Amino acid sequence: MRISRVCTVYFSATGTTRRTAKAAADAAAARLGVPQADFCINLPQTREETLRFGPEDLVLAATPVYAGRVPNLLLPFWRERVLGEGTPAAAIAVYGNRNFDDALAELRDLLWNNGFCPVAAGAFVGEHAFSRTLAAGRPDEADLALAAELGRRTARRVAELDRPPERPVEVPGCSPPRPYYTPRDRYGEPIRDFLKARPDTDPARCTRCGWCAAHCPLGSISREDSAVVGRCMKCCACVKGCPAGAKGFTHPGFLYHKEELEAQYGACRKESALFL
Ligand SMILES: Cc1cc2nc3c(=O)[nH]c(=O)nc-3n(C[C@H](O)[C@H](O)[C@H](O)COP(=O)(O)O)c2cc1C
Ligand code: SF4
Ligand code: SF4
Repeated sequence: MRISRVCTVYFSATGTTRRTAKAAADAAAARLGVPQADFCINLPQTREETLRFGPEDLVLAATPVYAGRVPNLLLPFWRERVLGEGTPAAAIAVYGNRNFDDALAELRDLLWNNGFCPVAAGAFVGEHAFSRTLAAGRPDEADLALAAELGRRTARRVAELDRPPERPVEVPGCSPPRPYYTPRDRYGEPIRDFLKARPDTDPARCTRCGWCAAHCPLGSISREDSAVVGRCMKCCACVKGCPAGAKGFTHPGFLYHKEELEAQYGACRKESALFL
């Protein structure tokens, strides 16, 4: 297949998915000797556009893993607004050292159902959005080298094909996906009001710089007083991005879950993996 452009489409609230997808795309574009374009879908207004790709595009679609799946609030966008036309693609899922569960299979299927031909995939580890210690510093050099390898091998595979393959790449995970992973308390019960948890703002630290309001993927932060006033997907863009360190969760159930994740998954290093 002839490719004239390599594109990324990604959501990345704390930057790990972006870095991983870019490493893969840069390597694919260099291998093919073609230009590269990025479509970031972080902000609400970027998700009002429909992204259409043709048979000469190679698309690297990338998502963070939320509760073992593609983030639910982004599903309508992936379903309705990312369209291919026999477009070769690779699916990339980035997870925080717990598990990617069904997210990669779900993204692969979303692409397949919308006219893409996912020929390759990768599950990569990124620093957990909830934590500064769980998978800290990842993707690291080894993860990014593997992402570049994904880009090169995807490019090579696509260049060798005469036409789009009849089946998508096989990846671990259930299709259709299982329900979203549920955080549980010490008694094994779902954590109460977990979905209602949202970051608080420390007024003593907040400088009213406006960064958080401008970057919240749901447009849920007030520009007047920087309080979280709408729905929150707990992406942690505001928590990790605030230059004054003024945003953080105080919700007891959220903090319990974060500490449990750090205790259970902090000591072992999960390795990023390719599926081709
Ligand atoms: C709401 C939410 C749910 C998450 N669920 C999982 C999960 O099920 N498994 C996992 O390993 N990591 C999970 N993570 C961690 C993210 O997948 C990980 O931090 C990823 O690198 C974030 O990508 P980003 O930096 O591009 O935003 C979750 C993060 C958030 C914010
Ligand atoms: S980014 Fe931080 S300092 Fe800036 S307005 Fe938001 S909470 Fe305040
Ligand atoms: S308010 Fe919630 S959705 Fe918005 S940036 Fe902060 S954590 Fe993400």
